[in-house]
Amino acid sequence: MIGRMRDVIVAANWKMHTTPADAGDLARTIGARTRVPGVVRVICPPFVCLAAVRDALAEDDPGVGVGAQNVHHELQGAYTGEVSAPMLAGLATWVIVGHSERRRDAGETDEIIARKLTRAFDAGLRPILCVGEQLAEREAGDQEDVVDRQLRGALAGHPSDVVRSTGLVIAYEPVWAIGTGRNASGRDAAAMTDAIRASLEGVGHSQADADATPVLYGGSVTSANIGEFLAEPSIDGALVGGASLKPDEMAGIVARAGVTAAARGMVERSAAERGAGE
Ligand code: 13P
Repeated sequence: MIGRMRDVIVAANWKMHTTPADAGDLARTIGARTRVPGVVRVICPPFVCLAAVRDALAEDDPGVGVGAQNVHHELQGAYTGEVSAPMLAGLATWVIVGHSERRRDAGETDEIIARKLTRAFDAGLRPILCVGEQLAEREAGDQEDVVDRQLRGALAGHPSDVVRSTGLVIAYEPVWAIGTGRNASGRDAAAMTDAIRASLEGVGHSQADADATPVLYGGSVTSANIGEFLAEPSIDGALVGGASLKPDEMAGIVARAGVTAAARGMVERSAAERGAGE
C-alpha cells in the first residue's frame, strides 16, 4: 500500500456492564495487560463509568483512549436521559455511533446516525461507526447492499475532508455474529471491508481516503479467533464486546494485534512520533 499504513485498533465495548465502583479497576487491569507497542487501544464503558475509567487510565495508561458508547443527535434540550456531545468533553475522545443494538432497541435510523456523526465531528470526538447486516439479509446475499445503504445514510452530507480529519473508523459488525459466539469468517469479513471501502468511494471519498480509513471487525471476537481477522490485510483490528470485559482475553487480543502492528511498521512509527514530540 502506498502512503501511511492504517492504525491497528482494538476497541472494547463494555455495553451495559460495570459500575462506577469497579470500572476503574477493570480499566487499570486491562491497560496494564495490553501495553503492546503500536496498537491503538480504546475502552468504551457506560456513560456513568467514563470518569472512573478516565481517572484510572490517566494515572497508569494515558495511551488508552476512552470512548462513549453513544451520543445524542441534538446539542441540548428536553431529551430526558440523553447525553450530548459537549457533555462528553473531558470524559471521552472517542464515540461509538450506530451500534446495531441501538438501531434495534432505540430505533436509530441512518438519518439519526448521520446527525450523531455531525455532533461527534463538531466536538472533536473520533467516531467508530458501526454497520452490519442481519442474518436474513446475509442469507439473501444482500449484505453488501445493506452496508452500502447504511454508509450512504450515515455519511450523507458529511464532506470527505471533515470525515478524514476526524479519523473516522468503521466497524463491520454482522448482527448475527454479535454476542452469539458465531463469528464471521476472516475471508467473509475481509470481503465486507473491501465493500465498505468501495462504498466510501461511492459516497465521494477519494480512493486514498477510503484506503486510509481503518475498518474493524466486531462480532464474537476472542483471543482464539482474532488471528483469523488480522491475517486479512484489509482488516485493521476489532471492536470487542463480551471478551473485552475479561483481562486475559484482552491481553491475548491486543498481543495478536501487536504482531500486525509490528508487521505494518507501526511500532517504529509510534516510537518516531514520540521522539519527534519530545
Ligand atoms: P460481542 O463481541 O460480545 O459479540 O459484541 C460485539 C459488539 O457488539 C461490539 O460492539
